[in-house]
Amino acid sequence: MKSFNGSVLVVGATGRTGAWVVKRLQHHNINFHLFVRSGEKALKLFGPEVIDKLTIGSIEHPEEIKAAIGHAEAVICAIGGNVTDPKAPPPSAIDRDGVKRLALVSKESGVKHFILISSLGVTKPDHPLNKYGQVLTMKLEGENEVRRLFSEPGYSYTILRPGGLIDGAPLNHTLFFDTGDKISTGVIDRSDVAEVAVISLFTPEARNLTFELIQLKEALQSTLDHYFHQK
Ligand SMILES: NC(=O)c1ccc[n+]([C@@H]2O[C@H](COP(=O)([O-])OP(=O)(O)OC[C@H]3O[C@@H](n4cnc5c(N)ncnc54)[C@H](OP(=O)(O)O)[C@@H]3O)[C@@H](O)[C@H]2O)c1
Repeated sequence: MKSFNGSVLVVGATGRTGAWVVKRLQHHNINFHLFVRSGEKALKLFGPEVIDKLTIGSIEHPEEIKAAIGHAEAVICAIGGNVTDPKAPPPSAIDRDGVKRLALVSKESGVKHFILISSLGVTKPDHPLNKYGQVLTMKLEGENEVRRLFSEPGYSYTILRPGGLIDGAPLNHTLFFDTGDKISTGVIDRSDVAEVAVISLFTPEARNLTFELIQLKEALQSTLDHYFHQK
């Protein structure tokens, strides 16, 4: 079975997609470390066995990111600001500046592969979601920094732009991958987004790729790696 030998830092591990990323890393027997805002939340989600794998902090603070990275060879970023909470930092602070900071500190700390979970529609400034702090445009700026830093020789990136996120079990649907931000609507299970992020670690076709992904019809899948061949 194909796998990844290095350690992966999961950023936003206690989020709904991030928690699935952790579960799918465990499924594939890949080592990980978790960067979370709440240790209590992480222990509740993943159990006491993750206690030695936690760094508590925020992507607003470069020194906390640095402390989390350790010897990680790859980062999977599943963070997202809470656009509906007026007290939360705005998308400019999290989805743009936080992601840019994470990408820069990751590169400076020796990370070779950066996987970012972004969103369908980021190239469409008039998209209705942009009325929430220009969240999609902020995500595009975060993406741009990841592409800029990790397209240099010796580095690589994978940027996933999922449709609307829903909560079902993994490997239960056929998927559709596309590039160019042409898909206007669609949904996908967070669990499948997580699985695609994890297999991007060891799937050569996923290297230096930005792509949209949605689910199509219900059908059991044994693996999702063949969807990269659509690209
Ligand atoms: N909702 C949709 O339909 C949809 C569609 C397409 C794309 N997306 C994007 O897909 C990604 C994952 O979505 P989701 O629904 O799984 O997100 P989520 O459940 O809201 O999780 C977001 C995560 O980001 C973390 N976070 C927020 N600010 C942070 C900070 N300053 N430092 C460190 N971590 C921080 C949160 O930490 P806590 O656990 O401590 O709160 C949480 O773990 C997001 O970028 C989202 O915008 C969403």
